[in-house]
Amino acid sequence: MRRFYQESWQGIPFTKISHLSFFHLAGSKFYSTFYEEMFARYSSWEALPLEWRENKRCSAEWLLERIRQHRAELGAKDGEPYRVLSIGCGVGYMEKLLLDALPEIELYVNEPSTVGLKWLRSYLPADHVYIGDPLTIPGDVYYHMIYLSAVDYAISTRHLVRLLENLRAQLESSGTVLCLSSSFLQEDSIIGSFVNAMKIFIRGILHYLSVRPQQFWGWRRTRKDYNQLFKQAGFFSLSDGFIEKAPETYWISGK
Ligand SMILES: C[S@@+](CC[C@H](N)C(=O)[O-])C[C@H]1O[C@@H](n2cnc3c(N)ncnc32)[C@H](O)[C@@H]1O
Repeated sequence: MRRFYQESWQGIPFTKISHLSFFHLAGSKFYSTFYEEMFARYSSWEALPLEWRENKRCSAEWLLERIRQHRAELGAKDGEPYRVLSIGCGVGYMEKLLLDALPEIELYVNEPSTVGLKWLRSYLPADHVYIGDPLTIPGDVYYHMIYLSAVDYAISTRHLVRLLENLRAQLESSGTVLCLSSSFLQEDSIIGSFVNAMKIFIRGILHYLSVRPQQFWGWRRTRKDYNQLFKQAGFFSLSDGFIEKAPETYWISGK
C-alpha cells in the first residue's frame, strides 16, 4: 500500500479551490468545493472529458453484465426488485448509465455531501439518496449488489474494513460487495517503497516551499492488500480481476 498525492482532477487545479494538505485526506468539504467548481465548468455529464467518460462507461457496462447475470441466476423471481447501492457515487455518471440501461433496478446512492449530486438527483427518489458517512446508511434495506467505484483510495484501511463489514451486513443472502479500483498498485517491493518514500519526501519539500502544492489523496493498494481487506471484513468466496475494456481498473468482489 502506498500513499499518493494529487495536484488536480478533471483539469481543475486544486490550488484554485482550496488550501491543500500534505498530511490530511481531502474531506467532504474539499470534494464539495471541487464539485462546485466542476459544475461551473461543465454543464452536463456529456461535457466531461471523453476519456474519463469512456472509462466510466466500461465500468458501468461491466457492472450491467454482472447485474444481468445475477438476475438471471435468481430467476428474476416474481418481479422482486433488484436493489443496487453505490457508495461515493460522485457526480453519478455510472449510475445514470446503469439506470438508462436497466431502469427497472432499484438504485440507491451515497455521497458524503449533497453538492456532487446536482445532475443525478432528478433521476432518483429522495429516499434512495444517502448523504453523509456511508456508515450511517440505514440498515433496513438489503441490497443485491453494493459497489464502490474509485472510492477506496480515499479511505484508510481501518475505516475501510469497518465499512466493508457494515456493507456486508446489508447484503441480500445472494448479494455481493464489489470494489472497483482506479488506484491499483502492481507490486510493493522494499526497494519500490523506499524510492516512493524518497519521492514523497521531495514532494513534501516542494509542497512546503509552495513550489508544487499537493493534496494527500489516499492510498494505492495491491491485489494482496485488497484480498486482505475483504478477508478482514469477513468476506468469503472472493474473486478479482481487471475490467477487460478498462484494463487499469481492478475489481474484487466478496459475499
Ligand atoms: C474519484 S470520485 C469517484 C466517484 C464515482 N464513484 C466514480 O466512479 O466516478 C471519489 C468519490 O468518493 C467520495 N468519497 C470520499 N471519501 C469517501 C468516504 N469516506 N465515503 C464515501 N465516499 C467518499 C468523494 O466525495 C468522491 O465523490
